[in-house]
Amino acid sequence: MRNFTCVQDLGDLNEALQEAFEIKKDRFQFSTLGKNKTLLMIFFNSSLRTRLSTQKAAMNLGMNTMVLDVNQGAWKLETERGVIMDGDKPEHLLEAIPVMASYCDVIGVRAFALFENRDEDYSEKIINQFIQYSGRPVFSMEAATRHPLQSFADLITIEEYKTTPRPKVVLTWAPHPKALPQAVPNSFAEWMNATDYDFVITHPKGYELDAQFVGNATVEYDQAKAFEGADFIYAKNWSAFQEPHYGEVLSTDRAWTVDTAKMALTNNAHFMHCLPVRRNMIVTDDVIESDRSIVIPEAANREISAQVVLKKILEGLDAK
Ligand code: CP
Repeated sequence: MRNFTCVQDLGDLNEALQEAFEIKKDRFQFSTLGKNKTLLMIFFNSSLRTRLSTQKAAMNLGMNTMVLDVNQGAWKLETERGVIMDGDKPEHLLEAIPVMASYCDVIGVRAFALFENRDEDYSEKIINQFIQYSGRPVFSMEAATRHPLQSFADLITIEEYKTTPRPKVVLTWAPHPKALPQAVPNSFAEWMNATDYDFVITHPKGYELDAQFVGNATVEYDQAKAFEGADFIYAKNWSAFQEPHYGEVLSTDRAWTVDTAKMALTNNAHFMHCLPVRRNMIVTDDVIESDRSIVIPEAANREISAQVVLKKILEGLDAK
């Protein structure tokens, strides 16, 4: 594998899942694969889980790791070509990318949607510039439209906890005070659509996701109806995708908060969220603290998803 930005890059999903379960049995079994190889992780946005789990996965494989927080201690980067650089950004990404690439073998990038222009966000300009100009394998640590390391960890978690071959999985919008990108729900939908699960998306009117990610999912505007018989509830907030409201918060209606009464409509569903989560906005304390909540093992599986991806990238380097 060269680059990893979406589910298709991983190849056969069942094989990738088997690899994840093998790594989980002994995460140090490939501890020399990354010897003398350096991973550079570049963050344009904050992170707790992605930063730590990806670094740990790289260390399990014997890699060296470097972390750059672009907005803390590095020169501010201009990303637009043709701009007269007389503002507060002293360095251009087009020089910074090859310079950074000269110090490493693999690059991870986190660069969220900017919410200035939907077409630009959905063109994935920043991560694609890294792919185009670095000459290194590049993987997404959450880009403008997708968060594939999270979705892979979500899938591993569902496979571990499912008790039926074809579980009902419900992605539900939930309220949040700030505008959040669509990357996590887009990506989750993309990965769920790559399985044969019964996959349902529920949200208030106006929060329709890009059709390319919704795919064959059932869209149900009645949250209570969507929850009926669910085996997994995956809660997430996202801002509006549809124009002219792209990136806007259209509702903070706490009637959509996941609570015990709603979970009682399900088939004793497990509760999932990618974290960080705003308690009593997205989900009530009692649901996230219940024995059906699997948010902690879900987050722990971020190390496993990252390790499968890095292993495949390292094997691709060796094959060259
Ligand atoms: N879920 C997730 O990506 O968490 P962080 O933003 O903390 O990395």
